[in-house]
Amino acid sequence: MMAAVMALHILSAVVWVGGMFFAYTILRPVAAAMFEPPRRLQLWLKLFDKFFVWVWGAVILLPVTGVAMVMQGFGGFGSSPPYIHVMTLLGLIMIAVFCFVFFVHLRRLRDAVLTEQWPIGGARLDRIRKLIGFNLILGLLVVAVAGGGRYFV
Ligand code: HEM
Repeated sequence: MMAAVMALHILSAVVWVGGMFFAYTILRPVAAAMFEPPRRLQLWLKLFDKFFVWVWGAVILLPVTGVAMVMQGFGGFGSSPPYIHVMTLLGLIMIAVFCFVFFVHLRRLRDAVLTEQWPIGGARLDRIRKLIGFNLILGLLVVAVAGGGRYFV
């Protein structure tokens, strides 16, 4: 049972962090080089609509499976090693940043695209890019802490 919970936890992290890595480092420069703002903004809106469905899955599964492992494996947060606390804190910050992007900035980008206000849309996409870049750094850090943490305690 715990093996399945851990597998779900790690798969969620791979999908979320790996998706952000691909979008940020590969897709973004290629899309910027190949498409003018109207096409590029429409492309990103469609990409976000599809990718964020998967991110929602990860955003729900990571804390649920994480807390299950904390209870089962360590007997609660009080008796968990520091790297679990770091993972939990950074994970919660990542989730808050994602919710901010989803509920505030994605809606603003959608409005700009639907009303064809391309310069405003560009500025809104840039804001989302920065927030996703921030979350990508946190995500890579969490994976490093999660994977290496047990060797420090
Ligand atoms: C949100 C709250 C979270 C909690 C409560 C939590 C809790 C845990 C726990 C208890 C483990 C097992 C550790 C062990 O047995 O040594 C674990 C493993 C792991 N977590 Fe999290 N986690 C959370 C979020 C995240 C996030 C956001 C990511 C990445 C984006 C992540 C990535 C991982 C990875 C990759 C492992 C496997 C580490 C290994 O055994 O090599 N976790 N997590």
